[in-house]
Amino acid sequence: MTKAFRFARTGGPEVMEWTDVEVKAPGRGEALIRHTAVGINYIDTYHRSGLYPLPLPSGIGVEGAGVVEALGPGVKGLKVGDRVAYNGGPLGAYSEQRIYPADRLVKLPKGVSDKTAASMMLKGMTACFLLKRTFKVKPGMTILWHAAAGGVGLIACQWAKALGATVIGTVGSDEKAKLAKAAGCKHVINYNKENFVERVKQITKGKGVPVVYDSVGKSTWDGSLDCLAPLGMMVSFGNASGAVPPFPIGVLAQKGSLFLTRPTLFTYSAQPKDLQALARDLFKVVGDKTVKIKINQTYPLSEAPQAHRDLEGRKTTGSTVLLP
Ligand SMILES: NC(=O)c1ccc[n+]([C@@H]2O[C@H](COP(=O)([O-])OP(=O)(O)OC[C@H]3O[C@@H](n4cnc5c(N)ncnc54)[C@H](OP(=O)(O)O)[C@@H]3O)[C@@H](O)[C@H]2O)c1
Repeated sequence: MTKAFRFARTGGPEVMEWTDVEVKAPGRGEALIRHTAVGINYIDTYHRSGLYPLPLPSGIGVEGAGVVEALGPGVKGLKVGDRVAYNGGPLGAYSEQRIYPADRLVKLPKGVSDKTAASMMLKGMTACFLLKRTFKVKPGMTILWHAAAGGVGLIACQWAKALGATVIGTVGSDEKAKLAKAAGCKHVINYNKENFVERVKQITKGKGVPVVYDSVGKSTWDGSLDCLAPLGMMVSFGNASGAVPPFPIGVLAQKGSLFLTRPTLFTYSAQPKDLQALARDLFKVVGDKTVKIKINQTYPLSEAPQAHRDLEGRKTTGSTVLLP
């Protein structure tokens, strides 16, 4: 038996139950992992609330790090005792022990602690594919990144600056503005106080930006489109304020032949080789300190519901880690 969070109905953080669950021996191609650190991500709240529907009952959590305790038949390249980390499904990271597909595990290099791995495997690889694959950020570009002081945001802003971009970050408070600035945002806009579209126009001398990275969704959607230069790329990759309502695609024509994409890490890392390549890229920028990972909150694993309340209440900054 081990302890894990499960939920049988969607709703607020209270639907997550800390329960005894049985862990089977790993099957073909699987590994049994004992978690040492577990990452919290906004997507966990979408799963829990029902915004992203799932068959229930379900486990929860998509990012973790730990030690391999047993391996099923047919697993290559891993041994018992290896330190590993992962992102993505099957859901169930909020647990002390779990079974996971071995070909989706990444071995951790010496310089990366389990806690750091659990705080960045999903957020850091997301920053990586968004900045380097979905839209290739180039030196001299000015880009707009919403929720710049969040988990993905603090990583992405440092990385974008290192790629040579001038980063405009939006945040919801003056405290968060300081963090975004320290993470390399040349301009920080508190969108709870200022009109971010006007400020972006001012900063870019009326031109707009070639790309907007928008994970806030509903509340920033219209403004984000207005920040784009003609032929600009709207990267809508999350919905922290709620899902973007359906909209007429003619708007993209009216606003300057804009491009729109709704990418997910799961598509960009579907092939194990792409997953490993993203991990290498991430370990490199973290290893050489181009990107510093900020774990600004930790909670005992059993207090995951409180971590959800704080994340949804916009109280957290940077990464949040649960400790078994
Ligand atoms: N597509 C993908 O593959 C992918 C992968 C990873 C993450 N994501 C998305 O990226 C976003 C960031 O994820 P994260 O885990 O790093 O979370 P996070 O950025 O640490 O937290 C979300 C932030 O969104 C901002 N926000 C704006 N309006 C909000 C509202 N009404 N309610 C709550 N928060 C609001 C808050 O910052 P302020 O107070 O500064 O506004 C909040 O701190 C999420 O939308 C997530 O779904 C997508």
